[in-house]
Amino acid sequence: MTARPVRMAVVPGDGIGREVVAEVIRLAEALRSAGSLLASWDELDWGADRFLATGRALPPDGFQRLRAFDAILAGAFGDPRVPDAEYMREILFGMRVELDLYINLRPVRCIDERLNPLKHVRASDIDLVIVRENTEGLYCGAGGLVRPNSVHEMALQEMVVTRRCVERIVRAAFEVASTRPRRKVTLVDKGNALRFAGEVWQNTFRQVAVEFPEVMTEHLYADVAAMEMVRDPARFDVIVTENLLGDLLSDLAAMLGGGLGLAASGNINPGQVSMFEPVHGSAPDIAGRGRACPLAAFGAFALLLRHVHRGDLAGVLEAAIGDVVRAGTVTPDLGGTSTTAEVGTAVRERTLERLAA
Ligand code: NAD
Ligand code: IPM
Ligand code: MN
Repeated sequence: MTARPVRMAVVPGDGIGREVVAEVIRLAEALRSAGSLLASWDELDWGADRFLATGRALPPDGFQRLRAFDAILAGAFGDPRVPDAEYMREILFGMRVELDLYINLRPVRCIDERLNPLKHVRASDIDLVIVRENTEGLYCGAGGLVRPNSVHEMALQEMVVTRRCVERIVRAAFEVASTRPRRKVTLVDKGNALRFAGEVWQNTFRQVAVEFPEVMTEHLYADVAAMEMVRDPARFDVIVTENLLGDLLSDLAAMLGGGLGLAASGNINPGQVSMFEPVHGSAPDIAGRGRACPLAAFGAFALLLRHVHRGDLAGVLEAAIGDVVRAGTVTPDLGGTSTTAEVGTAVRERTLERLAA
């Protein structure tokens, strides 16, 4: 146990984000009562309700306030009542960029044969990590509309690729690979079409690879990588890629692990306050109906625990998630009939049982 309490900011956000984060908080409370987790947390009401009520999705000093915490647990942002997604980008990209959370870590494993969507591979063949560049690329926000609302309307959406940001994310990917048994990094880009970006990514990748002679390397174009993730997922260990491609490939990878209900992610700046969230969004199509799978949020909490040096507890929680899935206590998206709260309760009880054992 750490000497001082872990300080968490909890930002449930919108839609099912609130439903799944509520289950994680019930677990955190139980762990705290059991003496297994020394933690305190502040819940922040950033999101659509606040935006609709006040015109601002978050307070002006919001990101500054986040720096006082060890870690942030987020739900999801996005609400059909607010058609302009700018408020959501302000929160999500704000956290990623203002806190310089340059590593978007998206691990995927298929933990049960029943969740394996591919008939030609075994569940155990699906075990990969996407290391997504999280601060630039096409997400940098540079651009604009020229002659808006006319027949000559033109959108410019710039892609920014800097050597500094590519180098640090590539190095992070090699570091992740060094800790995994298969020690392989695949660079995924679209350098055949996007020449300048491709040059920076490929040159930097080759240069950083020299520092990690024990790690195997390969390079795939993104279209082939998408195909290969379905044809032969076992060939992938760590994938490093730019922001938009990482976004696309991480939903595809999530499906290999059983679906978005299970896919967790960390937005990380090593040693600094970092943010942990499900890969999925606010799922307005199922919000408010008790159908959301909370396992991705629990998985994000496990990644958070690892970030705050509670890998012991993270391992217990991940094992409990595995137990619950194998017992068939899952929501409809994973083929079950359980509710969000029932899955949440099962994970909580199983985690406490494992800790007591
Ligand atoms: P989504 O991830 O919310 O949902 C995609 C599909 O997966 C839906 O059919 C949904 O019901 C299902 N799904 C997702 N999570 C699930 C869960 N935990 N349990 C069961 N089913 C689940 O993607 P979308 O519909 O494209 O986006 C909805 C809103 O969320 C949009 O406003 C989008 O911009 C936003 N979004 C936010 C984040 C984030 O905050 N990090 C991420 C993705 C999307
Ligand atoms: C994600 C989401 C976000 C992204 C959206 C909501 C802007 O899809 O975290 O994967 O594209 O990064
Ligand atoms: Mn996404």
